Amino acid sequence: MKYLILLLAVGLCTACNSEPRAADSGTEQARDTTLRVSTQPFGQTKEGPVTKYTLENANGMQVSVINQGGIITNIVVPDKNGAMEDVVLGFDSVTSYLGDYPYFGAFIGRYGNRIAKGTFELDDEQYTLPTNNGPNSLHGGLKGFDKKYWTATPLEEADRVGIRLTGTSPDGEEGYPGTLTVTVHYWLDNDDALTLEYAAETDEATPVNLTNHTYFNLGGAGSGDILGHELMIAADRFTPVDETLIPTGKLQSVEGTPFDFRQPTPIGERIEADDEQIRFGGGYDHNFVLNRSGEGLQQIATVYEPESGRTLEVETTEPGVQFYSGNFLDGSNIGKGGQPYELRTGFCLETQHFPDSPNQPDFPSTILQPGETYTSTTVYRFGVR
Ligand code: GLA
Repeated sequence: MKYLILLLAVGLCTACNSEPRAADSGTEQARDTTLRVSTQPFGQTKEGPVTKYTLENANGMQVSVINQGGIITNIVVPDKNGAMEDVVLGFDSVTSYLGDYPYFGAFIGRYGNRIAKGTFELDDEQYTLPTNNGPNSLHGGLKGFDKKYWTATPLEEADRVGIRLTGTSPDGEEGYPGTLTVTVHYWLDNDDALTLEYAAETDEATPVNLTNHTYFNLGGAGSGDILGHELMIAADRFTPVDETLIPTGKLQSVEGTPFDFRQPTPIGERIEADDEQIRFGGGYDHNFVLNRSGEGLQQIATVYEPESGRTLEVETTEPGVQFYSGNFLDGSNIGKGGQPYELRTGFCLETQHFPDSPNQPDFPSTILQPGETYTSTTVYRFGVR
């Protein structure tokens, strides 16, 4: 009974926290009520209760996000026959997200990807970050944003529903200068598009590179490998890396290499190629230099899974995308429904600035200055063919 009351209270809370709500603005008639947010308890951490917020649209598409780590735990979308399936890797319980795990669905910050040897110089000062990936710092360090407890607010607008996550990263957290205040929105609309909007401000110059680390498998999470997915990335060049996956600083043409995805190509077609870059990555684990014209959102990648017919289109405002083919998955992570996630059973398209930019003067800058607002938007749009 107590549990029931708690559940009811949590459910009601969605309504009382929701803002901006059409009801408050007097336009209730206009609001599309097929779009909704529901909540469910998802365990507890030392910092407080964890809630799973599920955004749902008119087509029955669902996106679930938890306030722990800002993690996307589920994305449920139809296949070409209308069969709904969860197409992202993740766990059934929050405890699995608290320890060492390969960033399933996670919100990544302060710096997505690697910083060489965990150090950089900024305004004549040398900063040292904890290293957590061989000699390098990866995905924000030991306690990156994927391990932070965020304040979540469900949002219901006329033509979309969402979650807002807010939080502050104190000066010196994980070695980074400046107090960083962060806001992220996850939106779902009736076009089956999930939009991620990031914003941040600082009181001291500091590197910022925010992204999301969702592993997709359009055949369904746990259904097998992703080698048959056909991928297109609009990139004439990529940033080749050394054996610790730090960019050499060059921008290399994809022409004639396994990195040419300018035409849709099965991920598995060249993944075992005799190529130094493929060897260093153990497959694909590389930043692609996106062909951009101007600013704003541009479509930069498409994915098609022939059996289910599911498609994914990616749009971003970022200059790069890390295409990671799940090379470190080895069956040791037991995912949702007790499924072990084996080698290459998920892939990531992490929109971002280039890896190690704080040490690469020729790469687009990732330094945020006081008085500026960092913004970044990425859209993952689902469909069928
Ligand atoms: C990123 C990195 C990979 C790997 C995964 C997590 O995509 O580029 O090398 O660390 O995160 O396992």
